[in-house]
Amino acid sequence: MLSVTAHGPAADLPLVLLHAFPLDSAMWAGVLEAMPEVGVLTVDAPGFGGSAPVEGGLEAYADAIAETLANQGIHRAVVAGLSMGGYTALALAERHPRLLAGLGLLDTKATADPDPARRKRLEMAEAALVDGATVVAPMIDVLLAPGAPEATRARVQDWLAQAPPSGIAWAQRAMAERPDRLAVLDGLEVPALVLRGSEDGVATGDDHEQMARTLGATVVELPAAGHLSAVEAPAPVARALADLAGRATAPR
Ligand code: MLT
Repeated sequence: MLSVTAHGPAADLPLVLLHAFPLDSAMWAGVLEAMPEVGVLTVDAPGFGGSAPVEGGLEAYADAIAETLANQGIHRAVVAGLSMGGYTALALAERHPRLLAGLGLLDTKATADPDPARRKRLEMAEAALVDGATVVAPMIDVLLAPGAPEATRARVQDWLAQAPPSGIAWAQRAMAERPDRLAVLDGLEVPALVLRGSEDGVATGDDHEQMARTLGATVVELPAAGHLSAVEAPAPVARALADLAGRATAPR
């Protein structure tokens, strides 16, 4: 069972937020503060925050989300994920399409990793089990825009230092195994959001254009924000997510 936390008013169609690697639901704090009117459920990935590990990769994580929500009587939701959260939202869209009332893909991509990137992930998974969270410390420079304020850097550095080694290992192996899921977006008939920080160096503009084109959507690009757009620019991200939730709720 995964750790799920409710925020804001109870909603018939909650907005489920899936966090990035190697963080947990705490990364959504600024976004939640900026949209108190939206009923949100934040989910901790297996082995992160309050969630126990699962057997299997992102597919098992997606199945666990569907099961955890079903246990709470939730059979339809708007699902949005940032980076690893986006990879998971895509797995959820593939495996539990009827759950999906709307889809948000933030600073993420639908393609699989090339072999060298996959090998690096597996190396990091091994190293994390020996050296702990120090292996993710250098990520600070790819997660944030070069001009990110010092307070934001310090907060993210703190999160990286607290990342659980077994969670790091699980997530890197899970992300290494993920297949190309662009085809999942083809013909998906739910409201969608594709958003990126303009300075995101992990998921490129082309990655986002490709997803948006397949969905028939346009990319929302936030100037001066990096890969962790939801941390660096919480107010505009909250506006875009609230708009997605509203479109999913509106009669069609
Ligand atoms: C994340 O932010 O979740 C990671 O950067 C994803 C990745 O390593 O591909």
